[in-house]
Amino acid sequence: MSNDSHVLERPPEGAAADWTIPQNWRAYTAQEHATWDTLFERQARLLPGRASQAFLRGLDALRLSESGIPNFEELSERLMKLTGWQVVAVPGLVPDDVFFDHMANRRFVAGNFIRRPDQLDYLQEPDVFHDVFGHVPMLADPVFADYLEAYGRGGVRAMELGALKQLGRLYWYTVEFGLVREAEGLRIYGAGIVSSSAESRFALDDPSPNRIGFDLKRVMRTDYRIDDFQQNYFVIPSFDELLRATIETDFAPLYEETLPLADIPIAEILPDDDVITRGTQEYARSKS
Ligand code: PHE
Ligand code: FE
Repeated sequence: MSNDSHVLERPPEGAAADWTIPQNWRAYTAQEHATWDTLFERQARLLPGRASQAFLRGLDALRLSESGIPNFEELSERLMKLTGWQVVAVPGLVPDDVFFDHMANRRFVAGNFIRRPDQLDYLQEPDVFHDVFGHVPMLADPVFADYLEAYGRGGVRAMELGALKQLGRLYWYTVEFGLVREAEGLRIYGAGIVSSSAESRFALDDPSPNRIGFDLKRVMRTDYRIDDFQQNYFVIPSFDELLRATIETDFAPLYEETLPLADIPIAEILPDDDVITRGTQEYARSKS
């Protein structure tokens, strides 16, 4: 997400008015390409049987297994043919309105830098591995592609309605940390999970976190943590269902209803929750 305090107010030197910059693909060093390959191989080994079919199909269709950091122009060409999306480079986090406007126009903004070799397991700001490996495969799925475009339009509206916090939680618990129920079991699709080796396992296998059936209003009220594994994951029944539940619902009355309500503490389970796993919260406790 882009609602972060590091964000600048104006596009930096060298960026266009819409905050995009050239990816400058030729400037990547051999070591930077090697970092991508290391991360890619690790996740590619881990994800079959864990990531959603849609994600795995996207990896394939976009030929992301080709060695090195993808060139956004070539990637956009493939993606454009599949779902009409493009990938554009930005210098890091961009303001909310810029982020939403790109998204509403089927442009996914991606950081062009890659993490250092000593940051393979964790870094706070989204780099090209998180943005491209984590997010872009799902954009090759026609249903998810429509969802993210609608989300962009919803973002512009949420800004006007003073409900960015509510809408941002939907992004967090779906686009970044979502789980989906498939015929063979629960699968991960959120970019924050699929781009992380440790969380790819934790989200599905660990007894600590809650896994709760997705409910729009519930999600809008639920706090989240940005600095460690999630304590809750929300499970959608399918991408069709997610799209239907969000596109066909007018969020304005939901915002109005949830804005005055208290936030739901991160790990709390409510009587109405469709609990798939009641987490032990052991992991979170061990860290506090
Ligand atoms: N239907 C939402 C609204 O009325 C927009 C939206 C669609 C938001 C899809 C998120 C995802 O604001
Ligand atoms: Fe992300």
